Amino acid sequence: MATRGFDLNIALVLGLILSVLEASNGGRTSSYVRNDDLSRDMPLDSDVFRVPPGYNAPQQVHITQGDHEGKGVIVSWVTPDEPGSNSVLYWVENSELKNRAEGILTKYKYFNYTSGYIHHCTITDLEFDTKYYYEVGIGNTTRRFWIVTPPKPGPDVPYTFGLIGDLGQTHDSNRTLTHYESSPVKGQTLLFVGDLSYADDYPYHDNRRWDTWGRFIERNAAYQPWIWTAGNHEIDFAPDLGEPIPFKPYIHRYHVPYQAADSTSPLWYSIKRASASIIVMSSYSGFGKYTPQYKWLEKELLKVNRTETPWLIVLMHCPLYSSYIHHYMEGETMRVMYEKWFVEYKVDVVFSGHVHAYERSERISNIAYNIVNGLCTPIRDQHAPVYITIGDGGNLEGLVTEMTQPQPSYSAYREASFGHGFLDIKNRTHAYFSWNRNQDGYAVEADSVWLLNRHWNFLEEFVSDSGDIATL
Ligand SMILES: *[C@@H]1O[C@H](CO)[C@@H](O)[C@H](O)[C@H]1NC(C)=O
Ligand SMILES: *[C@@H]1O[C@H](CO)[C@@H](O)[C@H](O)[C@H]1NC(C)=O
Ligand SMILES: *[C@@H]1O[C@H](CO)[C@@H](O)[C@H](O)[C@H]1NC(C)=O
Ligand SMILES: *[C@@H]1O[C@H](CO)[C@@H](O)[C@H](O)[C@H]1NC(C)=O
Ligand SMILES: *[C@@H]1O[C@H](CO)[C@@H](O)[C@H](O)[C@H]1NC(C)=O
Ligand SMILES: [Fe+2]
Repeated sequence: MATRGFDLNIALVLGLILSVLEASNGGRTSSYVRNDDLSRDMPLDSDVFRVPPGYNAPQQVHITQGDHEGKGVIVSWVTPDEPGSNSVLYWVENSELKNRAEGILTKYKYFNYTSGYIHHCTITDLEFDTKYYYEVGIGNTTRRFWIVTPPKPGPDVPYTFGLIGDLGQTHDSNRTLTHYESSPVKGQTLLFVGDLSYADDYPYHDNRRWDTWGRFIERNAAYQPWIWTAGNHEIDFAPDLGEPIPFKPYIHRYHVPYQAADSTSPLWYSIKRASASIIVMSSYSGFGKYTPQYKWLEKELLKVNRTETPWLIVLMHCPLYSSYIHHYMEGETMRVMYEKWFVEYKVDVVFSGHVHAYERSERISNIAYNIVNGLCTPIRDQHAPVYITIGDGGNLEGLVTEMTQPQPSYSAYREASFGHGFLDIKNRTHAYFSWNRNQDGYAVEADSVWLLNRHWNFLEEFVSDSGDIATL
């Protein structure tokens, strides 16, 4: 009996090892089955939406990068009752010298909603790799936070990006954010792939849900930059409500450093941060030939200096490759326009949201088609990016669980669970991507892969140490 139990254990362990090996060969649909009940938004009186005490106290504090290189920060906040102070006081940790930066004030109306006073203050010329404290508000409603600026851009600077998409404000959203914050992997900057508050799912796009969302994410977004991508839930296009201007609440509330990237619109822009160049695109703005976004991207891709920032990351809300049934092929027009460039410029990874699930692709491309040759199937392509869909933040619309069958060969791993990811850049050649599902412990990686940098991988001097086929 004892021997048989022992054999059984060995068999179990072997089975586990085999299934792990299989997972790394790709093409896996996870057998993990989760409850896909719709999750409601957290009620208005939830702890995460609490208004800070005191008259006109600043709320919804959040930061994002404020320039192209990482020496700038945009601090944004809302004062509910009156404009109040528009300035940010900031200083290097342990320094007596306090600096002050002046912001700008904006507000907007949406149907019968009137926003609070929205402040945006751009602080420039900070030192790299330095901890700063900053304060907003006045008198006894002054609120203090801190930030750490990124290291100066350079090829071997390690840096860890978090990834969240389609977050919303349900209990699942709160679990996703808690998992991100509690992970032993410490995200330094969050790449947010679009669909923020889901306020537009409410009657009259109830914009109070933009305010609650701002208060919900403050606990993280006031301390580390969230890099914003616009999703379809940011469009808020409602001519029937007298609101024909797309992106109105989003553009008033979430400022990004687009001018520093020579962009003419906050909906597409780029930043450099540590060892990465990050290009943010808009799935819901014109992107055909000759459009402003097209012209900007054409120039931008030429500007990326892979010697300085080896990692080239693209963020867009709608995925170019997704094998889920919901939103199937919505990214196809964008794919036809830009996939060729992503391969030509050896983009390392394209992150998207929109599909409320997780999926990771193989390195594939589908760019040979020319109307008459019939070559329209994705093929393995070592120059191509990996496409990762991470629209599983946890919003009130729930998960999408229906997948196209059989799993297409371009799809390496897919699972409909809420979660978040990390892109942990180690040096110019290696980065490690991992995905955590909310049902697991904070340290558990439900899917992971080593990414070899596309630029350095194809330079001769590095080819010798990148022959490992288990990595991508
Ligand atoms: C806006 O209009 C809706 C529908 O008439 C109503 O339910 C809501 O209370 C109004 N809100 C405000 C702030 O007036
Ligand atoms: C804040 O200060 C104002 C006057 O400056 C005072 O009226 C108010 O009671 C104070 N609030 C708190 C919470 O201390
Ligand atoms: C959200 O998560 C935080 C951190 O885990 C917790 O303190 C808080 O009570 C949660 N709130 C709700 C409404 O679930
Ligand atoms: C690219 O970056 C490297 C390292 O910072 C620098 O030496 C080089 O001049 C840059 N190349 C261009 C074309 O700007
Ligand atoms: C880059 O990082 C990888 C993974 O940590 C490591 O194996 C490799 O030796 C590093 N390369 C260099 C040149 O340090
Ligand atoms: Fe979406």
